[in-house]
Amino acid sequence: MADFTSGFWNWYIIVPTVAGIIACFLLLRWLSTAIKPEEQGKELGHVWDEDLVELNNPLPRWWLNLFYLTLFFGIGYLVLYPGLGTFPGMLGWTSVGRYQQEVDIADAKYGPLFSKYAAMDIVAVADDAVARHMGERLFVNYCATCHGSDARGARGFPNLRDNDWLYGGDPTVIEQTILDGRSGVMPAWEQALGGEAGVADVTEYVYSLGGRKVDQAAADRGQEQYQTLCVACHGAEGTGNQALGAPNLTDNVWLYGGSRKRVMESIAAGRNGVMPPHREFLGEDKVHLLAAYVYSLSTGQESETE
Ligand code: HEC
Ligand code: HEC
Repeated sequence: MADFTSGFWNWYIIVPTVAGIIACFLLLRWLSTAIKPEEQGKELGHVWDEDLVELNNPLPRWWLNLFYLTLFFGIGYLVLYPGLGTFPGMLGWTSVGRYQQEVDIADAKYGPLFSKYAAMDIVAVADDAVARHMGERLFVNYCATCHGSDARGARGFPNLRDNDWLYGGDPTVIEQTILDGRSGVMPAWEQALGGEAGVADVTEYVYSLGGRKVDQAAADRGQEQYQTLCVACHGAEGTGNQALGAPNLTDNVWLYGGSRKRVMESIAAGRNGVMPPHREFLGEDKVHLLAAYVYSLSTGQESETE
């Protein structure tokens, strides 16, 4: 509970709290004894609505007792629970412990279900409507921020429904991707290509690989550069390399946009898309369900649940 930067703040809380409780107690004591018996019931000389008279009487006992009760409740609370500076309370309650307790309960409840699916093959899990539904819930919670709640992705974040894979759509590859993450490394080529004109030429050649009509002279100049600088990762035909996450450049599916401006940007400045690892964060059982869900998206099984 050493949340304070100095001992001062500890006492800054304890002293006014305890002083406040004592002050309230003294005030109540004073209220119940302040009026001498011989003064009780005498008129104070205040009259309202012609005949409503104020008498000098102490607070009713039950009313006072309610105040005492709240005081004792407050003291009991501060003894049992954290509240007085850094004093942790006799019950040892913490919000972290409470959270852990709830997590433990959830694990005990859902753990067997998760382990049942964890023992099954991903393709078999993807066949199970309940498992797909659980996977979808996990996806919306943990993956939708980047891939979208419909898993269609956004610029820089791949669409997971389209059967076009950077790293491969094999169930075990998908699981590997989610467990350990991925990092796509596309170097910057502007300098090697001799500036913007060189980038434009290669872009022209990349477009020609996808069967587009292009400026042939520029594409020819670009081809030469492509064959030296790009084949290693994107392949001679431009179909990419899933071991490196180098995208297929011929299929008109673009991770970073397919306009001339975007493609030139990708080539000139490079790209570095990062898929974070989830092994530690979610654990293997949940990732297994997620892999099955993502796999089911690409096979169209998911529509059965809707
Ligand atoms: C912080 C953003 C982020 C989060 C969160 C995230 N991803 Fe990703 N994911 C990415 C990026 C970026 C890539 C592409 C990496 C690259 O460009 O090389 C990717 C790639 C993937 C791929 C590979 C796609 C392919 O074409 O091979 C899969 C599968 C995937 N993510 C699934 C998931 C799942 C399931 C979750 C939830 C557990 C998740 N991602 C959470 C950003 C994210
Ligand atoms: C070291 C391997 C490597 C080399 C060499 C390489 N690339 Fe890439 N390239 C990649 C990777 C990996 C990505 C995906 C980056 C990501 O996921 O963030 C990529 C992405 C791209 C993209 C964006 C594709 C999209 O879908 O938006 C284009 C365009 C591209 N590369 C063109 C080229 C060209 C042209 C060259 C040669 C001048 C080249 N690359 C050389 C690895 C490489």
